[in-house]
This record gives sequence, C-alpha cells and structure tokens, in this order.
Amino acid sequence: MSMKKQAYVVTSSVLGTSKSSELAHYAKECLEQEGWEVIVEDVSAQPLPPVNATVLGEFADKQSMGASKVQADRIIKNLKESQLLVIATPLYNFTIPAQLKVWLDYSCRAGETFAYTAEGPKGLLGHAKALVIRAAGGDYSSEHMAPLDHAVSYLKTVLGFMGVHVLPPVKVEGTALGSVEEQMQQHKRAIAEQIAVLSKE
Ligand SMILES: Cc1cc2nc3c(=O)[nH]c(=O)nc-3n(C[C@H](O)[C@H](O)[C@H](O)COP(=O)(O)O)c2cc1C
Repeated sequence: MSMKKQAYVVTSSVLGTSKSSELAHYAKECLEQEGWEVIVEDVSAQPLPPVNATVLGEFADKQSMGASKVQADRIIKNLKESQLLVIATPLYNFTIPAQLKVWLDYSCRAGETFAYTAEGPKGLLGHAKALVIRAAGGDYSSEHMAPLDHAVSYLKTVLGFMGVHVLPPVKVEGTALGSVEEQMQQHKRAIAEQIAVLSKE
C-alpha cells in the first residue's frame, strides 16, 4: 500500500487570469515537491449538472449508475482518500461561483461525508484539512466589509459540517483595485510554509 499523502485541489474561477487558481496551482507544485499525490479538478472547465429531481433520484438510489451519481461517487472517494483539500474560489456576487456550489452539492452525502446521529449531524471527513483560497475584486479585510464575504464563511460552514478542519484562509483582496503582486508573493510564502508543516504531520 502506498503511504503517499493525497491532496485534492479544486479550482472554480472561470478566468485564465485567476488569482485564486494561480495560488492553487502553486500549492499543487509545493505539494508535489513534498511528495504528495495531487488530484486537480476545475469545476468551471468541467461543470457538473446542477442538482434537479433526476440528479437527486440518482443520489438516492444506491444502485444507480447515472452520470451524476458516478461523478458524485468519484468526488466522495477523492474526499475520503485525501488528507488535504485545497479549495480555490473567486468571490462572485458576494459568494462562491455556482459551479463550486454544485460540486459541494455532490460532496455532501448522508452516510458518506456526514451522518445523522441522535446528537445531530456529524461530519465523517475528520481526517481531512482544507486550505481555502479566495480572491476578491474588492477589499474585504476591514471589520465592516468582512461580513459581506459569504464565500469564506460559507465554505467554513459546509466543510466543517463534513468534519473537515478548515485552516486559516488565504485571501487575495482587491484584484480590481490595483496590483496584487506583493500580496501574491506573501500568500505563496505562507502556502509553502503551511504545506511544509502539513507534510511533516
Ligand atoms: C460574475 C462576477 C461577480 C463578481 N462579484 C464580486 C463581488 O461580489 N465582490 C467583489 O469584490 N468582486 C467581485 N467580482 C470580482 C472578482 O471577485 C475578482 O475578479 C476576483 O479576482 C476573482 O477571482 P479570480 O482572480 O480567482 O478569478 C466579481 C467578478 C465576476 C466575474
């Protein structure tokens, strides 16, 4: 059995110039240098069909071999087998892109990534940590702006619901306000340090 650690890197920006994707790809390079197996998924380039009655019917049917069920099974397998998730998101209208929401809709499955118990819902991905990378056109670092960023808070909620330990997020602020080159360099250093720490665990 391979003892290689596995990371699951998910990007979601629609743009090739994406700052969140750039940092996620940098994280991938760092992880590979540290000997991790890395799975990369771009939910914008390979969009999943949004949840509808047909998709939900497939999810509810254990025997289903429907296209969405097969995709969800693949995603859940990756989640179960990965010690680290890297989730890169732009801020679109104050939250995550629709396609990343769909990926999360495929990820959350009772009995697989969370369970209903007598004490309430319990996350089943307690072995995993998540590094959330978020890029925004505006600057949400001040006390009055921070509550408007529903991307980071939502990802903390939904990943926490599945039992994932969410690491301090990496936030690129103000990509529409001027150069973020200096921020990007700082973030890259922080990501490399974080991955060095995770690799020693
Ligand atoms: C559809 C759309 C909606 C956006 N909504 C917001 C927003 O609500 N707040 C904000 O600060 N920037 C907003 N932006 C700007 C993006 O957050 C900014 O371009 C950011 O850099 C995107 O991340 P990326 O560089 O990883 O693609 C929006 C951009 C697009 C295309």
